[in-house]
Amino acid sequence: MARSDGLLLGVSGCPPAQQTAAKRGKPSLPPFFFAPAPPSAAHSAAYNNGSLLPDLTSTANGRMHRPWPYPRVVGHRGAGTLAPENTLAGLRKAAAMGFGGVEFDVMLSADKVPILIHDETLDRTTSGRGSVAATPYARLASLDAGAWFGPQYRGEHVPSFEEAGKLCAQLGLWANVEIKPARGFERETAVAVAKLALNLWSAPPAPLLSSFEAVSLDAARAAAPDLDRGYLTDRLAPGWAEAARALGCVSVHCNSKHLTQAQADEVRGAGYWLLCYTVNEPATARRLFSWGVDAIFTDRPDLIPPDFA
Ligand code: G3P
Ligand code: MG
Repeated sequence: MARSDGLLLGVSGCPPAQQTAAKRGKPSLPPFFFAPAPPSAAHSAAYNNGSLLPDLTSTANGRMHRPWPYPRVVGHRGAGTLAPENTLAGLRKAAAMGFGGVEFDVMLSADKVPILIHDETLDRTTSGRGSVAATPYARLASLDAGAWFGPQYRGEHVPSFEEAGKLCAQLGLWANVEIKPARGFERETAVAVAKLALNLWSAPPAPLLSSFEAVSLDAARAAAPDLDRGYLTDRLAPGWAEAARALGCVSVHCNSKHLTQAQADEVRGAGYWLLCYTVNEPATARRLFSWGVDAIFTDRPDLIPPDFA
């Protein structure tokens, strides 16, 4: 079957890997999953082996100029401010609101278990105190990560990355996994996250790994070269293009507060997908999309719903 974008699909109208999943009796995935897959080596391997598809990685600059294949509005830290951040409840809330994609932050426990949390300390979002990196997983898993947000979320725990990945698959949520290392653990956090991501996502759509830390992106590439990486930065400083290229990134993620239209043109002109955080006002979202921004992360999924035009 030929599609308008030139890709070929199997008889059921979905990519071969998804047909295989369907045969195994897995739940069908939401419609956005049937859009073109990302330009990763994993994608090429998955879809080019049977010579069904052209080699989409051979553009002039080695990157893509294709439409963003994932959700345009992504729940930040799960469901943003509508549920406790980086929890399974947040992922469920995002899915229940119709979101097809979420972002969350992953850090290592003292015994090197990747878990979902944003801060290097437990104080703000859990019932614990002190350093995440100094706390063993068994202790982290026993903490309350929902009561700080509201009594209805009491009993919500600090999830492991494994739990979150499995839940995303179950809920049909695409994930942008932000590698969020505690200081000094940049490399090992990335290696643990990348390796586990490879195991957790055995079929497309694979998660997009991003990080503010170049060392982490470099380590993620070495550990899982087939997973796509996003260059995450607050401001687009001079040299961003060289850095993103050196790290083999497919996307650039930046703070919407600092982005200019000229920078958006530059990023997209260089062949990167462009993602912006954290966009909580519809007018801002509209402006960014009009500049060609491919996706936004939002804390206000109630104001910027998944089908926001
Ligand atoms: O990944 C986008 C955004 O989450 C980066 O900032 O601090 O919210 O993790 P932060
Ligand atoms: Mg984040």
